[in-house]
Amino acid sequence: MTTSPYLEGNFAPVAEELTAHDLEVRGELPRELNGRLLRIGPNPVAPVEPYHWFSGNGMVHGLRLRDGRAEWYRNRFVRDDDVVAAKGWPEVPGPRHGIGGNTANTNVISHAGKTFAIVEAGGLPVELTDDLETVCRSDLGGTLQGGFTAHPKRDPKTGELHAVTYYFEWDHLKYVVIGTDGKVRHQVEVPVPGGPMVHDTAITERFALLFDLPCIFDFSIIEAGGSFPYVWHPEYGARMGLIPREGQASDVRWFEVPNCYVFHPLNAYEVGDDTVVLDAVRHERMFDQERDGPTEGKPVLTRWTFDLAGGSVKEEQLDDRLIEFPRHDERVLGRKNRYGYAACYDTKGFDFPSLVKYDLESGKSSEWNPGPGRSPLEAVFVPRTPDAAEDDGWLLTCVYDKAEDRSEMVVLEAGAAFGDEPIATVPLPGRVPFGFHGNFVPDEG
Ligand SMILES: [Fe+2]
Repeated sequence: MTTSPYLEGNFAPVAEELTAHDLEVRGELPRELNGRLLRIGPNPVAPVEPYHWFSGNGMVHGLRLRDGRAEWYRNRFVRDDDVVAAKGWPEVPGPRHGIGGNTANTNVISHAGKTFAIVEAGGLPVELTDDLETVCRSDLGGTLQGGFTAHPKRDPKTGELHAVTYYFEWDHLKYVVIGTDGKVRHQVEVPVPGGPMVHDTAITERFALLFDLPCIFDFSIIEAGGSFPYVWHPEYGARMGLIPREGQASDVRWFEVPNCYVFHPLNAYEVGDDTVVLDAVRHERMFDQERDGPTEGKPVLTRWTFDLAGGSVKEEQLDDRLIEFPRHDERVLGRKNRYGYAACYDTKGFDFPSLVKYDLESGKSSEWNPGPGRSPLEAVFVPRTPDAAEDDGWLLTCVYDKAEDRSEMVVLEAGAAFGDEPIATVPLPGRVPFGFHGNFVPDEG
């Protein structure tokens, strides 16, 4: 029997839910950082082989910062059917969708005053308390038809969330807009010929992007005992669509692109009336020969430039580093950004050895390396003040230290001092496994 590499090292789950108050701070935490740094990832409560990294039960980690202090750290399972059964905990209330146990393991966000653990491919959002305890499964007050996504995009001007959802039984993708009241206010079904895995979207001022790429639902994989039913079908082809944000399915403009897979855009924006630019991490293929995790091929920052007048698209590689988990200053989401940040990715070592910062205007890039045996996770940008310039702020990440088998939260300067030593670190009482995504949720007001 083989053991998945996604159950070893810092991919392995942690067993305990911990709570710690008034944590040690090394250096100085900016007093402007008032809120919660939240992260989530797969943390199987009872791993079953064959194990797929995407399928583990969710665990959310949170660090509460206030007035220069690290007020608390908590990690909590997101209570799905497996978790409550394994732990003997009470059933979680709320509606259901999909055939799974409603595992939510991919992103954790705040919207309309509530915290949600979210996932794609059919599962409903799971509402959490501010202290990360599971409250209920949510269909957003009865307005969300079917499952959600791990990557809604918040328009910084309107505060609304734009999302693309999918489910294996559907013959369409759903483009969904969620208002600031937390309810779906606009929904469009866009037909697709197969069942593509659609992990993310991007928005511009006028459009949302649809990724119809050749990683396709294939039930024969499950029948054959496989762990995950989405695999590479190059004959399907690849296309990206632009749907007007208030438009209908008939308004979608599709652009055929060379076969690839995209989990994560960095950002998208418009230049003039006839050009849309998308920067994203391009994988050559996904779940072709390697089926247990996203380690196939070379993920690199790539730009697609869509010519709306001519109907053509140009694809160009922007850098040759292997990266994932691209982030940017979300105050410029959907509008032209100058900077991006990402985790460098060692596909062979199953590791994330450094962070990279891109200056897309000058074409320069630089790295922050935390030292040997230390691995940063996805970095989250927090502006110094609400109206500070782009890139004027901090990057928050969790760094895993292999020798200590422990993690710490790290605050880096994002601007000109990127690459310098952290300005603050907060040793955590446990380990934050390599997971997926997180966000900083500032205190309201
Ligand atoms: Fe993601």
